Amino acid sequence: MTGVLGVPWSHGVVRRADGAVEVGGVDVRDLAAEHGTPAYVLDEADFRARARGYRTAFATAFAEVGTGVDVYYAGKALLTVAVARWAREEGLRVDTASGGELAVALRAGVPGAEIGLHGNNKSDAEIAAALDAGVGRIIVDSLVEVDRVAALAAARGVVAPVMVRVTTGVHAGGHEYISTAHEDQKFGLSVSAGPTGGDSPAMQALLAVVARPELHLLGIHSHIGSQILDPAGFEAAARVVLRLRAGLADRTGVLVDEVDLGGGYGIAYLPGEVPLEEDRIAKDVASAVAAICAEHGTPLPRISIEPGRAVVGPAGLTLYTVGTVKPVVLDDGRVRTYVSVDGGMSDNIRPALYGADYHAELVGRSSDAEPVLARVVGKHCESGDVVVHEVMLPGDVRAGDLLAVAATGAYGRSMASNYNLLTRPPVVAVSGGASRVLVRRETTDDLLALDLG
Ligand code: LLP
Repeated sequence: MTGVLGVPWSHGVVRRADGAVEVGGVDVRDLAAEHGTPAYVLDEADFRARARGYRTAFATAFAEVGTGVDVYYAGKALLTVAVARWAREEGLRVDTASGGELAVALRAGVPGAEIGLHGNNKSDAEIAAALDAGVGRIIVDSLVEVDRVAALAAARGVVAPVMVRVTTGVHAGGHEYISTAHEDQKFGLSVSAGPTGGDSPAMQALLAVVARPELHLLGIHSHIGSQILDPAGFEAAARVVLRLRAGLADRTGVLVDEVDLGGGYGIAYLPGEVPLEEDRIAKDVASAVAAICAEHGTPLPRISIEPGRAVVGPAGLTLYTVGTVKPVVLDDGRVRTYVSVDGGMSDNIRPALYGADYHAELVGRSSDAEPVLARVVGKHCESGDVVVHEVMLPGDVRAGDLLAVAATGAYGRSMASNYNLLTRPPVVAVSGGASRVLVRRETTDDLLALDLG
């Protein structure tokens, strides 16, 4: 029977009566024949729906408490020219984390004013490129960067719009959040007292920006983590940031217009997992922000957020072809079937890097064979080269089968490498029964072209 596969697949993934799967109206066997495997497949309608969903949920929730919202798509999750255009067409702005991401957003025609630039160690060239493009905001990450951005702005005779990234002590990810005073990490400026006491590094940076005529202080930025499933972390961070905003206003009379609460909205990677629901999180955060501002007696700031994974993660799947299949007897007597595919840690480093779990299914045919405990592995010279740690697959899985891994749209292609000099897979968009290559497959000639001998 034909049926939508559901979580964690994109909305457009359907298993047909003959057992084959289609995505965006395109049979995966046709995708494999036309584009080869491995391939990243991106369901355009699903991306657009999620982008719209975030924009609408946050705009609605914050309108109810009386302020506006800008949603920035975090390009680090996956940025191609087409993806940046989709984001813009759905009313999102684009958050970039390097000169490379900035260049892609600009190539897509995203106006500079709708782009933000992040980075804990931006080069002068990146800052200059951002200023020349007239970006809407540069998120400064250190005290020295305040001076560097000011100098580069002065050289151009422009006033640079900046936000100050602060660390609130709130960390979130997975199912819980933790809150500590001092932060032992490289991003942002702490709201806790610095090594010599006195003003916190965050306050020092805010005061420094206010004092520089070449800089306009737009607001305060906080990003607390990624793959967050508990809204409490966002509320705790908002409390810290809004207190700092009120403190700065008391000190200087400058009440910043904007507060960015970052990205990190969690998604489902496995069947049965419950993603963070954007309507609910938007309502919770909006009412918390309104209540905290009321406590401080300050008007509400404009809010911005930066979802990446939640917009593009579920929209993507990776299509592989099965090669070697090898049963291995475990110490406890169980048998684990190692299913090797034609990609691996070079197209998805997340299982090896974070122990991330994924879900896979055979998608080119149906099977009535008894399911077996399987581990999907790649073709790299490394035993940690795991694609899916544990999944039940039909016992007759064999070479030539097509296998798809769900929810690989975020941080798959964007963290891909050429380990073992494998060539990186293409990004193929599907929509309305047609496919289109957004980023072509790398070739061995591409690799050799970089090697000057
Ligand atoms: N904004 C800022 C300032 C960020 O640092 C990040 C992610 C985001 C937004 C977007 O977060 P998202 O909504 O996508 O969770 N490579 C890791 C994730 C690292 C994220 C780093 N910053 C992974 O594969 O899970």
